[in-house]
Amino acid sequence: MLTEQNRILISPSIIASDLTTIGEQVRRFDASLINMLHLDVMDGNFVPNLTFGPGFIQQLKKHTTIPLDVHLMIEKPERSLEQYVKTGPWCITIHYESTRFPARILQEIRRDGIVAGLSINPATPVEAVFDLLPYTDMVLVMSVDPGFYGQTFMESALGRIRKLSGFIKAGANPNVRIQVDGGINSDNIADVVRAGAEIIVVGNSAFKGNDINNNVRILLDSVNITS
Ligand code: DX5
Ligand code: ZN
Repeated sequence: MLTEQNRILISPSIIASDLTTIGEQVRRFDASLINMLHLDVMDGNFVPNLTFGPGFIQQLKKHTTIPLDVHLMIEKPERSLEQYVKTGPWCITIHYESTRFPARILQEIRRDGIVAGLSINPATPVEAVFDLLPYTDMVLVMSVDPGFYGQTFMESALGRIRKLSGFIKAGANPNVRIQVDGGINSDNIADVVRAGAEIIVVGNSAFKGNDINNNVRILLDSVNITS
């Protein structure tokens, strides 16, 4: 259900848009280019920023049929997981660093028919998620410290994605997909794809100039030309 092999999926992060009008904006999103909407939930505790919660996601869903890709940057997601499950997203991603019980939470997400994502911060050794792959559909490799859009891509992410991709392909869970998030633009998108990422989160580079369909077209073209 996740992705067809060799197909890149683009997931624009709506926190880089004008959130006061996002309900209107999504109606103009070209669903053939914008495969999902990346929703950055921040709690002001796990990360030093605060965004929105399940109520907002529920409202947004009334405005679009594009699948929702929920990225929980919240401490102890087990405390409020149920509320996010109820919003019926395509995916829920939790952070490895946010809980002592990642395997249990991932299994709960899956049990509800939702894609189970596990994210790792740049400071966490990528090997930390290897033993959790049997419970994971997607690993989100952060290429910035989470908390804000518009940060600069960390080059170290490329080696981390390559290492993870190699381990996944050689292992017992070859269907796990890699998502990358933070500082992706038309100069580095081909690099992350070549390293093994298939689901690409784009904030600033998708929403700049308020021209999302065209911006995403440019990003996809950059993958084709240089890869
Ligand atoms: C960072 C968020 C990202 C961010 C991406 O904490 O998880 O999703 O909004 O935005 P850009 O692409 O601008 O780094
Ligand atoms: Zn994110």
